[in-house]
Amino acid sequence: MNKGNVMISMGGSVMIPEHPSSEFIREFAGILKAAESKSYVVLGGGRLAREYISIARNLGADEGYLDEIGISATRLNARLLISALGEMACPCPPVSFDEAINAGKAFPVVVMGGTHPGHTTDGVAAMLAERVRAERLIIATNVKGVYTSDPRKDPDARLYHRIPFSKLMEIALSMEGGAGKSGVVDPLAARIISRSGIPTIVCDGRELEVLKRAINSPLSVLENGFPGTIITRNPEIETEGD
Ligand code: UTP
Repeated sequence: MNKGNVMISMGGSVMIPEHPSSEFIREFAGILKAAESKSYVVLGGGRLAREYISIARNLGADEGYLDEIGISATRLNARLLISALGEMACPCPPVSFDEAINAGKAFPVVVMGGTHPGHTTDGVAAMLAERVRAERLIIATNVKGVYTSDPRKDPDARLYHRIPFSKLMEIALSMEGGAGKSGVVDPLAARIISRSGIPTIVCDGRELEVLKRAINSPLSVLENGFPGTIITRNPEIETEGD
């Protein structure tokens, strides 16, 4: 079992999909409650953020204000997970890294949303991972991991099982520039992960058994046959089907 600090960036659209299920959130909370590690979870904004941002944009709000609306959505999503965690989690999502670090001293699970306009929740998770010296960062998203190209558009896209930080940076930067987040790991998060050398696992958060393994299994065990992408300092690049 893993006993270090684990940082999880939970996609908003993973936890609150088109047809939300309280059972999924309850099971995810159950995994966190049973883990031996201290968990820090940063919730994404998902559909709530997208819909509210779109309405406010039509109403004339500026980009910075839209980010504040997005941050509010991430914190509302955080409160749903807190509802399922009960006394295991701090009741109010921390709004800064210092607050999150303090909450981590009092609670086994800390759940929060975004912090500053212009950031992403993956970036927040990477920054907090650095601050709490997380033993690993898990990016729980709605694809299996990092692919050679966008699997939703390219039927020949192949999943990377293992890549170094340098390759993550290259992939994230090649996705930069389009409107919205196109890559599975955004450039801000990729930059922090690379500079601090945090072992990072990208996996399908909808598959709770996979997420549970990502949280609990030693990294050396995960390296064999894990259905996601593991990003560390100097591995040989390994792609699905190699
Ligand atoms: P997310 O990072 O969750 O983006 O923040 P997302 O692409 O919707 O991710 P998923 O779908 O949950 O995985 C939602 C919005 O909140 C604002 C940004 O506008 C972002 O697009 N935000 C979030 C910030 O401005 N700062 C933050 O620290 C976090």
